[in-house]
Amino acid sequence: MTITDTPKLLRVLCGEIETPVPVWMMRQAGRHLPEYLELRARAKNFLDFCYSPAMAAEATLQPVDRYDMDGAILFADILLVLDAMGLGVTFEKGVGPIVETVTAGGGLRRVPVETAAQRLSPVYETVGRVRSKLSSSKTLIGFCGAPWTVALYAIEGRGGTDKSTARIWAYQHAEALDQLLDDLIEVSAHYLASQAQAGADALMLFDSWAEGLPDTVFDRLITRPNAKLIARVRELGVTAPIIAFPRGAGTSLPAFVQSVPANGIGLDTAISPDFVQRAVPRTMAVQGHLDPLLLIAGGQEMEDRVRSILSAYADRPHIFNLGHGIRPETPIAHVERVLEIIRGGGK
Ligand code: CP3
Repeated sequence: MTITDTPKLLRVLCGEIETPVPVWMMRQAGRHLPEYLELRARAKNFLDFCYSPAMAAEATLQPVDRYDMDGAILFADILLVLDAMGLGVTFEKGVGPIVETVTAGGGLRRVPVETAAQRLSPVYETVGRVRSKLSSSKTLIGFCGAPWTVALYAIEGRGGTDKSTARIWAYQHAEALDQLLDDLIEVSAHYLASQAQAGADALMLFDSWAEGLPDTVFDRLITRPNAKLIARVRELGVTAPIIAFPRGAGTSLPAFVQSVPANGIGLDTAISPDFVQRAVPRTMAVQGHLDPLLLIAGGQEMEDRVRSILSAYADRPHIFNLGHGIRPETPIAHVERVLEIIRGGGK
C-alpha cells in the first residue's frame, strides 16, 4: 500500500498533516443514533449484541454511513475482556455494567490466556465483516480498555463509584493489583493482535478512568501498563498504529507521552491546547478534545471551539474528535454542523 492509497486517518497516525482533518467521534456507534436504537431493540441483551457479528458489524457501520466519518470504531465493549476471562458481566438498563468482583487473594487467571482470547472470536468475525464492507478510504479502529480502567470494574463491580476501593488496593494490595494489571495486559494484547489480524487498521486503548490519581501512582497504574501493553502488542507482530487515551491525565500527560510509544494521543476535555502543544511531541498525532456537552448545547460557542481546536493543531498531525464519548441526547444536527465546519476547513 502506498501512502496515497492509505486512508486519511491512518496517514495522520503515520505523521502526515491533512486538511481538512480526518474526523470520528468516540462512542459514535450506539448511544445517539435512532438506527442504533432500532437495532438494539432486536438484541436479547447487550452482551449478545456484542457477540453477534452481523448486528455488531451493522452498528459499527451506521455512523460511517450516516456521517461519512473517516473512522469506524468497532462495536464491542471494554468489559468483554472480563467476560472472556471468566468474570460474570451483565449490563442492566438504566444502571450500566455489573461485574462479578475479584478479591485481593483471588486473582483473575480463571481461564488460560488462549481460552480467553478464543472466547472473543465473535469480535474478530465482526472486524472481518466490517473490513470487507467498509470503503478502503476509511479506517477501522479496534480497541480495548487499558488495564487500570478494566481492573477498576473488576474491583468495584460497577461504574459510577468513587473508585476508592480500587484506589486503596493500589496502596494496600499493591501486589494483587499489579498481578491483575499484568493478567489484563496479556489477554488484551492477544485480543488486540487478533483484531489487527482480522482487519483492524488502527487500535485504541481506552483509559477512561485515569483521572484523579496522584502522580506517583499514575506512573504505576497508567503509564507503565499502557507502555507494557503496547510493547506486548508489538511483540506479537502488530504494526497497526495505536492511539492511547489516558483520560484526565492532567499534569501527568508529559511523562505519559514520553514513556508510552503510542502513535496518537487522545485528549480529554479539560486539557488546554497550549499545554498539549508543549507536552506532546510533534511526532505523535493528537486526537480530541471537543466537550461532548458543548456538542449537545450547540450554537456559536460550539462553532468557535471547533474552529479554535482546528487552528491550534493546524501545524501537526490532528484527528478531530471529542474529549469523551458522545452522549445519547446529542442532536444529530449539531454533529452535522461540526462536520460541515471541519470539512469546510474551519469556515
Ligand atoms: O462507539 C461505540 O459506542 C463503539 C462501541 C463501544 C461501546 N463501549 C459500546 C457500548 C466502545 C468503544 C465502548 C467503550 C467503553 N465501555 C468505555 C470506554 C470509553 C468511555 O466512554 O469512557 C467504558 C468505560 C465502557 C463501559 C461501559 N459500557 C459503560 C459504563 C456502559 C453503560 C453506559 C454507557 O452507555 O456508556 C456500557 C454499555 C455500552 N457500551 C453501551 C454501548 C453502545 C450501551 C448499552 C446499551 O445500548 O444498552
